[in-house]
Amino acid sequence: MKPISRRQALGLAGLGGLSVVVGGVGLSRTHLARQSTTGGGEVTFVEPEVLRSREGRLSVELVAAPHEVHIAGQQAQLLTYNGSVPGQTWRVRPGDRIEVRLINDLDTPTNLHTHGLEVSPRDNGDNPFISIDPGQSFDYRFDLPEDHPPGVFWYHPHRHGTATGQLFGGLYGALIVEGDEVPATRERVLVISDLSLDTEGEPASVSAPEVMMGREGELLLVNGQHRPHLAARQGQRERWRVVNACTSRYLRLALTGQQVVLMGIDRSQEPVPRGVEEVTLAPGNRADLLVTMSAGTSQLRTLSYDRGGMGRMGRGGLSGAATLASLTVSGESATTPLPPVPRRPPVPDLRGQPVDAQREITFTMNMAAMMSSTRSMMEMGFDGRSFDPDRIDQQVGLGTVEEWVIVNPTPMDHPFHLHIWPMQVIEEAGQTVSDPTWRDVVNVPSRGRVSVLVDFARHPGRSVYHCHILDHEDSGMMASVEVG
Ligand code: C2O
Ligand code: CU
Repeated sequence: MKPISRRQALGLAGLGGLSVVVGGVGLSRTHLARQSTTGGGEVTFVEPEVLRSREGRLSVELVAAPHEVHIAGQQAQLLTYNGSVPGQTWRVRPGDRIEVRLINDLDTPTNLHTHGLEVSPRDNGDNPFISIDPGQSFDYRFDLPEDHPPGVFWYHPHRHGTATGQLFGGLYGALIVEGDEVPATRERVLVISDLSLDTEGEPASVSAPEVMMGREGELLLVNGQHRPHLAARQGQRERWRVVNACTSRYLRLALTGQQVVLMGIDRSQEPVPRGVEEVTLAPGNRADLLVTMSAGTSQLRTLSYDRGGMGRMGRGGLSGAATLASLTVSGESATTPLPPVPRRPPVPDLRGQPVDAQREITFTMNMAAMMSSTRSMMEMGFDGRSFDPDRIDQQVGLGTVEEWVIVNPTPMDHPFHLHIWPMQVIEEAGQTVSDPTWRDVVNVPSRGRVSVLVDFARHPGRSVYHCHILDHEDSGMMASVEVG
């Protein structure tokens, strides 16, 4: 079989409903080279390679291309950034410039989103309206403000219509903005994703009902590995940077038998880090955790999360429980105890500032149209309209603060993501949020609403908000906002 056929098939497989194409080209199965996963064949936890900025600059050549990857005991044909899943971890500091030459060696158009970064949405900045055709490249430039918040961010494709298949296929990577160092024995990056493979070892295609619910993969991966094993010593303190890179799956993370302290979610920093039993991450959310090791064996698990469903339509939206990784802590204590976690800088609070405007934004799913045919997917949107890149849905004044009430009358949860401009959650589940809480993805529960204050102080230009169940985004649940 010519390689080009497989590449084409791979590109198409991510678009859904086209598995017949993959089967039709008659790929040989010999390349699968299945490995035994029994007999204690545990994989050791690995992390993506790190690219670090130097003298205020990080230059990356980023090739998006299909590649053979070893996953869960088999060879898989995935989509990769620079040949690996996840892509490299970028580590930068506030004030840095990130330059990325994105080379599209896929069979579908793509682009790049630096999720959570507060940078210009214009021109070759974090511009979701760019489309890079197969065989083309594009030079991005992201200038982080000097006071950019530190935190865990990530990068992934955002080309409307192809984003879900590309993310599901393996295109994602972590992006850490440093600047809030905490004494820790070590730091680890855990990029969590899910994936289903077909019999050829390619990302499985999805049915229309799966798109409507948002696809979830059968295999849960941590840094592209299935149930890796971590080792540590008693008393060690580790900083874990966790990314939920699943296209639709909610994670409820729990690490039994270990002391876990939540340092922050997204860009938000907990003013007083606190011990937690579990941390819920909607698709797109990230967590910054401190784990103090106690002797014994623990499992990093995700507990089940019911994200609602469409009644008798398709499967329900249950993100099921699963083991993500295992951890063995040896009884031998670490040598020197670490100093306590330093006090964190005060978290900014928009409350008390005048609110310039209030808007209500409503997730909409047209049930009647969805029942009728597969065209149905076009009926997802906001305020009764599906995404149109040529329409401006919200016009906002630069330098203003607005209150946005995000309303979800549908029978399932939707994670609301706004690019570029930070959101402070002020009301959730009918309750006022007391601590300053910042999110770039905020879950809006089924038949619920969330109120946020949005800081439009800087970064004029046009960008988007959307559902981070990416199947919904690709199906039209996205809208544009212009600030100027
Ligand atoms: Cu992580 Cu607009 O996306
Ligand atoms: Cu949604």
